[in-house]
Amino acid sequence: PRPILLTRHGESQDNVRGRIGGDPALSEAGELYKQKLAKFVGKRLESERAASIWTSTLQRTILTAGPIGGFPKIQWRALDEIDAGVCDGMTYEEIKKNMPEEYESRKKDKLRYRYPRGESYLDVIQRLEPVIIELERQRAPVVVVSHQAVLRALYAYFTDRPLKEIPHIEVPLHTIIEIELGVTGVQEKRYKLMD
Ligand code: G3H
Repeated sequence: PRPILLTRHGESQDNVRGRIGGDPALSEAGELYKQKLAKFVGKRLESERAASIWTSTLQRTILTAGPIGGFPKIQWRALDEIDAGVCDGMTYEEIKKNMPEEYESRKKDKLRYRYPRGESYLDVIQRLEPVIIELERQRAPVVVVSHQAVLRALYAYFTDRPLKEIPHIEVPLHTIIEIELGVTGVQEKRYKLMD
């Protein structure tokens, strides 16, 4: 069995401010996480020469993977966070106040709701298809450093969760979800590296 390690980027400056989207750098806690993650991956994949590290094209994932040494890194646009379109850069409070209809429609059907000029969860699930094909083809471990909405979809795929649950799955910060694809099914472990 070969592990797939899923993790969100370290806390970003916008996570701290409650803003969605954008291309922020890491907060102080996020900076700490990237060091802990590198240590963890170094140990966990010590004897795995062919492993690779996959990030999105957004700097918070690239920075988070930065200190991981010894493995090739690949950037995938398909691993970028859900595109919040006109709401990019806003807080949920601001969306609720300034665009109440949008806020309500998303609340009603978070899976299908598409941000104006942005994406829905269904869009994200669709664009992840090539990533999933490539992940299944890999024989060596892969560390995926991505974003909450994207990891919800990837996690749901590998653990066989129903579509409608995807937007509500918890994928906490600073936690590694290790999925092992074996002949007998899927095994899962979680490593919480920080609070
Ligand atoms: O910025 C986007 C969030 O990571 C996705 O969270 O789909 O629960 O709003 P949400």
